[in-house]
Amino acid sequence: MFKRRKNPKGLVLNPNAKPKDELEDNQKTFEHNMETFMEQCANVNQRPAWISDLSNENLTVVRRLGEGNGGAVALVKYKNLYMARKTVYVGANTKLQKQILRELGILHHCRSPFIIGFYGAFLKENSICLCVEYMDCGSLDAILREGGPIPLDILGCIINSMVKGLIYLYNVLHIIHRDLKPSNVIINSLGYIKLCDFGVSGELVNSIAHTFVGTSTYMSPERICGGDYSVKSDIWSLGITIIELATQELPWCFSGVNEPMGILDIMHCIVQEDPPRLPDSFPEDLRLFVDACLHKDPNLRASPQQLCAMPYFQYTLMKHVDVASWASQFRSL
Ligand SMILES: Nc1ncnc2c1ncn2[C@@H]1O[C@H](COP(=O)(O)OP(=O)(O)OP(=O)(O)O)[C@@H](O)[C@H]1O
Ligand SMILES: [Mg+2]
Repeated sequence: MFKRRKNPKGLVLNPNAKPKDELEDNQKTFEHNMETFMEQCANVNQRPAWISDLSNENLTVVRRLGEGNGGAVALVKYKNLYMARKTVYVGANTKLQKQILRELGILHHCRSPFIIGFYGAFLKENSICLCVEYMDCGSLDAILREGGPIPLDILGCIINSMVKGLIYLYNVLHIIHRDLKPSNVIINSLGYIKLCDFGVSGELVNSIAHTFVGTSTYMSPERICGGDYSVKSDIWSLGITIIELATQELPWCFSGVNEPMGILDIMHCIVQEDPPRLPDSFPEDLRLFVDACLHKDPNLRASPQQLCAMPYFQYTLMKHVDVASWASQFRSL
């Protein structure tokens, strides 16, 4: 059994603890990987151009893509360009509306192959409409429902992209995601895996929180308890997401009698019970990676940097996988 002890230095407990030289090597590898990764981001040419005259008048709605707590998402066309338009009700306060639009402005500087591209946003009848890159294979929750558990080699690529996306959000945009889950990871038929719906605007997050009726299944124990919210809370959500993608099951969602659990029961389990783990049938390095994400104490939970130095992450960096072919089976226009 994996034992947890108090760890005042906040180090990740690892039964396969490495000698110091190896840890230093890991750190060097991490720094090297990060340099390469930042170069990759700087070279991304696919950043969508900022379109200044976006409005519903020059968008044609093609079809509905889905609906979440925040609002509805539609596939729309601007001239010959497909994009996804998310409409979020924000209320009639004009000062607040302007602030949200201002805060969304930082998305124009976003340049990463692991983050959804942004075309622009506009106001329509007390709602903000966000126009982002359309990803033609949709989100991982739908793919999971249609295709079953994600194959392990693809899962490795997804984890790799998610961690790099989170690092870009923290290190470059200085924001925390706040809503990491399979429906906020979207894929296209070129094989790109990107994060969307991150908390770029504090005011927009507040507006959505006012109407929030959704699940807290991916929320970290400290967030449920009203504690400080940090990068480490995203790492917890990453761990829960990996378990769901690998097994097609969400921890805690079913009690022993196969009854769906209520939201309060789930929150109680997250705070009171041992963290969930991947079954023993999964590769050990992957299980250790998930364990490192799911320490209940955020001080013991791995940081994104520590995750990058873990053997499982290193393995995902080296392996070449054809994500595009796999993703194409879920393609829809
Ligand atoms: N850029 C996009 N390209 C293609 N499909 C998208 C895009 N953005 C969202 N979708 C689709 O729209 C659906 C609804 O997205 P939305 O963000 O509103 O809800 P959600 O992520 O399921 O829940 P929540 O509101 O809690 O974030 C997603 O599940 C996804 O299938
Ligand atoms: Mg979403």
